[in-house]
Amino acid sequence: MKIIKNPEQLSLLLARERSRGKTIGFVPTMGALHEGHLSLVRAAKRENDLVVVSIFVNPTQFGPREDLKKYPRVFKQDSRLLKKGGADYLFYPSVKAMYPEGLDRPLVIRGATWPQIARNLCGKFRPGHFQGVVTVVSKLLGITGDCRLYLGAKDYQQAAVLTRMVRDLGLKVRVRMMPTVREKDGLAMSSRNRYLLPRERARALAISKTLKGIKREIRAGKVPIGVLKAKYRKALERSVDRIQYLEIVDAETLRPAVSRRAHLVALAACFVGKTRLIDNVIIQPRRQ
Ligand code: PAJ
Repeated sequence: MKIIKNPEQLSLLLARERSRGKTIGFVPTMGALHEGHLSLVRAAKRENDLVVVSIFVNPTQFGPREDLKKYPRVFKQDSRLLKKGGADYLFYPSVKAMYPEGLDRPLVIRGATWPQIARNLCGKFRPGHFQGVVTVVSKLLGITGDCRLYLGAKDYQQAAVLTRMVRDLGLKVRVRMMPTVREKDGLAMSSRNRYLLPRERARALAISKTLKGIKREIRAGKVPIGVLKAKYRKALERSVDRIQYLEIVDAETLRPAVSRRAHLVALAACFVGKTRLIDNVIIQPRRQ
């Protein structure tokens, strides 16, 4: 595995690989890797000749009161995991290399409109977050060039926003959204789980349980969506410290669900102690 810090160098190397007919799978990450990230690496390896993973804690997607400074940085451990996982290139740029123009300039979002799908859910509670994500991923894709882009369903809205970005910018990138990897007891794996104290970890379980319950009841098709939401919100409130949202939305538009028969996603964002956790379940429509 080759570790590369310089964007131009990676860009040239990958252009050369592509000209030899190699296909490229790209997995962007912020490091502190766990099985969730590694499942993306494995998928990329199955479906491509070469796997590129980036580790970059992107400052522009963190709000002023968020955890940028304390975000876990464990490069040595990460690079060991990636080497074992079979990554070919590890891109590890500095902030200066990714943002030579500086961070204080307004970020330019190409594409005509800021889509509705980026404005609700996390978009509402983390102003500027998706602008930062779109900015960095469009920069990263500018460096890697045409590829398959591997994203986790764990960050469902992020995957939806980036899929939309790829389409709006007309990039030659195939987005592959892969399933959420969970701990044995159901907690969605996240780099932020390591902030949880043991008792908080136990309370955090309520999030995946709530979402699973919603999925089961929607499948059963007896209780109206509004009633379901209220019932599960009440139950979740007892375990977590604050709910930012608990929503059941259409999987494509991310607007509130109107029919139980559509392709839906139930999503939640909660604080447990000082840690903000998100999770979701995808609810496929039942065949009639
Ligand atoms: P990060 O949180 O490091 O996640 C990198 C990728 O791993 C994302 O696509 C995320 O959805 C996926 N992932 C995280 N936990 C997962 C899990 N339990 N199961 C499956 N996939 C999981 O998301 C980001 O970084 C950043 O916003 C980034 C896209 C790199 C832009 O900076």
